[in-house]
Amino acid sequence: MIDNTAVIGAGIMGRGIALVYALNGCRVRLYDAANQALEKAKTLVAADLALMVDEGLCSDAERRQALDAILVTDSLADAVGSAAFITEAVPEQLELKWQVFASIEGLARPGAIIASNTSTLPLSELARHLEHPERMIITHFFNPAHLVPLVEVVKAVNTSAQAVAEALAFLRRAGKVPVVLKREVPGFIANRLQAAVVREAMFLVHSGVADMHDVDTAMTCGPGFRWSVIGPLETADFGGLDTWQSVMNNLAPELDDSRTAPALIKELNRQGHLGVKTGQGFYAYPTDEVVTDKIRNRDLAFIRLLKLRDK
Ligand SMILES: NC(=O)c1ccc[n+]([C@@H]2O[C@H](COP(=O)([O-])OP(=O)(O)OC[C@H]3O[C@@H](n4cnc5c(N)ncnc54)[C@H](O)[C@@H]3O)[C@@H](O)[C@H]2O)c1
Repeated sequence: MIDNTAVIGAGIMGRGIALVYALNGCRVRLYDAANQALEKAKTLVAADLALMVDEGLCSDAERRQALDAILVTDSLADAVGSAAFITEAVPEQLELKWQVFASIEGLARPGAIIASNTSTLPLSELARHLEHPERMIITHFFNPAHLVPLVEVVKAVNTSAQAVAEALAFLRRAGKVPVVLKREVPGFIANRLQAAVVREAMFLVHSGVADMHDVDTAMTCGPGFRWSVIGPLETADFGGLDTWQSVMNNLAPELDDSRTAPALIKELNRQGHLGVKTGQGFYAYPTDEVVTDKIRNRDLAFIRLLKLRDK
């Protein structure tokens, strides 16, 4: 049974993934190239755990146990040397990930599974320079990793059946809901679905059909509300496939089919409006306190959803 893990990269995703493993009885060595990222991770993980205790998602004893289980380190060798499951969560740059995997492979014990949290890079590319690509896999978590149940699992032709089976068992034990792709495709499943929706949402705002609040409300109170219970394919079954065939025939020619990022997002980027991190995106986030509040409220809502799922 895997009980010794390492997470490489302590940013948004790495610290959340470390928390998932720690809460499920694993020892986690959390490594980052930047010391301040490790310090920040400790503070934020402690805050996430405090909220989980407040909301009854874990006990105070489990909170303390999880905090003790995460050992931050500035030594990659120390992080991966004894780990049976190593998760990489460094920035989405192929060359950087290649360097990190080469270092991990030189330090990890034989048989350790090396998992990448990449959002977009193909596994066969990521594993290109590894001596043992059979032990490499993608486990794609969603932000905030400690609350969103889904993890997409992607294998390449070289990935061993044993690595897939061990990764799935490990993720399930950690309380996650893994889905496995039959073959590699860019964006996996969830980001492709999400990108299709985001493209149309931005098109609707950009072409003046509705304002951004109404587009977001249409999703959270309409399809999004439904989709957290039944997925799009089952939704079609309930609506009637004859009806859905007409809907798709009538709508398909009307939908945005642009082949690059939507005009609206390009325009906001050109103006330096990158969302929460610059204080302005589609909406305004004037202070750090506003952002902290919004994240807390978002996480509280996710926690309530999680509790409903568990009933
Ligand atoms: N942010 C998301 O919503 C999200 C969701 C799913 C997947 N991902 C993927 O997860 C990965 C990490 O994304 P993130 O959002 O956590 O990024 P981030 O920028 O928040 O964190 C990356 C961390 O990696 C560290 N780092 C950089 N070089 C390193 C090295 N050589 N060794 C060790 N640490 C190093 C950085 O200091 C930083 O703390 C990316 O591949 C991203 O595509 C992100």
